Amino acid sequence: MYEDENVLNYNNRFWFKIFIISLVLLIISYIFYAYYQRNPNGANFVGLLYGVLGLLAILLLMYYGIRKRTYNTTFGTLKGWLSFHIYIGVLTLVIVPMHAGFKFGINVHTLSFLLMAIVVLSGLFGTYFYINFPVKFTKYGKELLYDEFDDEINKFINQMYILSKKKSKFFVQKCEEAISYGVPKGQKAWQIIFNIGSKNATSESDYLTQINKDLHKIQESERDDYQRLAVLSLQKIELQNRFLAQMRIKNILEVWLYIHLPVSFAMLVALTIHIVSVIYYNGFSMFIP
Ligand code: HEM
Ligand code: HEM
Repeated sequence: MYEDENVLNYNNRFWFKIFIISLVLLIISYIFYAYYQRNPNGANFVGLLYGVLGLLAILLLMYYGIRKRTYNTTFGTLKGWLSFHIYIGVLTLVIVPMHAGFKFGINVHTLSFLLMAIVVLSGLFGTYFYINFPVKFTKYGKELLYDEFDDEINKFINQMYILSKKKSKFFVQKCEEAISYGVPKGQKAWQIIFNIGSKNATSESDYLTQINKDLHKIQESERDDYQRLAVLSLQKIELQNRFLAQMRIKNILEVWLYIHLPVSFAMLVALTIHIVSVIYYNGFSMFIP
């Protein structure tokens, strides 16, 4: 058992070991194949074996989506399936070019390979976040769920309203500004991700400068409450910024799947056309050695 077990070293690096062994066997087999065949391509018996192997791997990789949503099963752990998914997923990048004899063209066969490569690359990207996500999260403290964030923000807002009761017009105006200052307004996932740290996170130092500017405009009798308002506002800004930072990480975690999942289905369509068309043109006899 590893101290911090993750999807890459799961179960004593079981799938990593399988990955290395398979990679070595594949390379050795291809050296023999290329030596004897002279013109390796997808249409001869050995080339087709690689093709069928690639298809099997892809079907098992697609099965992960079903396994992820099946809760009442003991058919391997989900972490184990993901570990398998990652290593065997990367292996398809070797199996399929071997199937194609490293020859590509402008056709539906190559399209299915390109789509598969996009799926694999997006998978690498996702795995990176999958592994780093808990570490980064703790940097911002305990995870805030949306409801908790809502409750805490409302507590600040209520306290601010109480402070503004029976105060001058200017105080009330400053209070309203503080309440609406930097509240995340239903920002879209993409915006939160790409405006990293800039427009979304409101700066506490900008706000402090503003407070100091306004302080002398506040009546003497309201100054203590104004300072209380300032403290509440700063705490509120900190909470908002913490929530935005967490949302950003969460969104990155989910956004890559918007590529991974639909492209894997598009690849499956292209692959079906590829297989049906080659069988249509060459017949089943190509499977006979
Ligand atoms: C049961 C599975 C498969 C069968 C029967 C099969 C069959 C074939 C055949 C007969 C060819 C030669 C076509 C030609 O020379 O015109 C070929 C080439 C190719 N196949 Fe497959 N294939 C399979 C799986 C796959 C998979 C899983 C991929 C990729 C995702 C793939 C990608 C390609 C590519 C890129 C070529 C080369 C195209 C070229 O030379 O321009 N195949 N396949
Ligand atoms: C041909 C290759 C691949 C196919 C067809 C494929 C397909 C899929 C599918 C269907 C899902 C389920 C998504 C869902 O239902 O939410 C998934 C999830 C995932 N895949 Fe892949 N994948 C491939 C390769 C890879 C590779 C190479 C990696 C990593 C290097 C990877 C990493 C992941 C991760 C991290 C998840 C999400 C796990 C989770 O949310 O539980 N995939 N993939």
